[in-house]
Amino acid sequence: MSQSRSESGTATGVRDAFLAQAGFCERLGSPLTALLCRVLADGVDSTNELERSILAWRGDPSPCADSLPLRLAGALHALVRAGRVPALAALYPPHPLADPPRLLAAVRSALGENGAFVREFLRHPPQTNEVGRAAPLVAGWLEIAARTGYPLSLFELGASAGLNVIADRYAYRFGDTPWRSDTPGSGARAGSAEVMVACGWSGPLPPLDAPLLIHSRRGCDRHPLDVTDLSQCERLKAYVWADQRERLERLDAAIGAMQTAPIRVEACDAQQWLASVLPSASEPYVTRVVFHSIFWSYLAPAAQEQITAYVTRIAAEASMERPLAWLRLELLGRDQPAALRLTLWPGGADELLARVHPHGAWVHWGE
Ligand SMILES: C[S@@+](CC[C@H](N)C(=O)[O-])C[C@H]1O[C@@H](n2cnc3c(N)ncnc32)[C@H](O)[C@@H]1O
Repeated sequence: MSQSRSESGTATGVRDAFLAQAGFCERLGSPLTALLCRVLADGVDSTNELERSILAWRGDPSPCADSLPLRLAGALHALVRAGRVPALAALYPPHPLADPPRLLAAVRSALGENGAFVREFLRHPPQTNEVGRAAPLVAGWLEIAARTGYPLSLFELGASAGLNVIADRYAYRFGDTPWRSDTPGSGARAGSAEVMVACGWSGPLPPLDAPLLIHSRRGCDRHPLDVTDLSQCERLKAYVWADQRERLERLDAAIGAMQTAPIRVEACDAQQWLASVLPSASEPYVTRVVFHSIFWSYLAPAAQEQITAYVTRIAAEASMERPLAWLRLELLGRDQPAALRLTLWPGGADELLARVHPHGAWVHWGE
């Protein structure tokens, strides 16, 4: 850092948070957000009230806690998308990456002119719903369908807008191999635009010919996003990094598909919801699938223990006629890929199905 300021530990923590986020964005393929975070790390100062309040963030600004850098990047992208900051928009895609001093000047002017909007935006944690994760999740559903041979009852924890609870309605490219569900009850709905999820694939393919029949689907979230509310959709899009056009286009298409789907994510804490929906869902010749992606780290250890104990207790009653699966796509650690794990009862062995890019850009299937 080039500044020779004498600052509080809080301000230094804020600058470190922006630098850490810049590193993640570089590794996850967003040069624009990386540059934005770098110029903010060095360039935010205390000459105006908003920037002062950013430097004096109450809480932990780091990427693994309050994610202040992603809150601010989201606020700026929201302003660009709304057409409120033409000078900054001129430095966003499709325009080439700007030089750092120009970007910083445009960012500071956007912050200066939109203080109330940005302050309000910063109050909320980033909320995403990454459709790229549908590829490993659907591959996991196929694996479960192949092993049990039954239709699936899906229960998603931390479903956000619910875009992955309808993942069987999207089209896929697992590497060079196209796949779409043609089982009745699955597959794209007439009239909705195709959602194409393509990912790099290494290792064997999942059992693509397994009969993927969805018996029922439900999802819960502590703060669900309603895809019929345009301002909530805009917010979801604002958190996608502005230079990742493919993710944005895919998100748009998935929102369209969800708008025509007859399900809504239920507003509830996962622990409570699971206890209310899982026992009554036990039916013969149906596999109950509890699944989640990039959700576990949001839970306090006590909540993680509660959910684990609850699933394990229900699993004790699972049988060949009433199997239960627990599919988890969760980060292995800070700045690491995610792991797709499956536990299927009866049996209950915990298996690693795949290693996965955090946004689903690639999947390495198998050990
Ligand atoms: C990073 S987002 C992931 C969303 C989605 N699973 C995906 O992969 O795109 C984490 C989600 O978990 C939700 N969440 C966090 N704690 C929760 C809880 N205790 N119960 C239900 N949802 C929770 C958040 O509101 C947020 O929507």
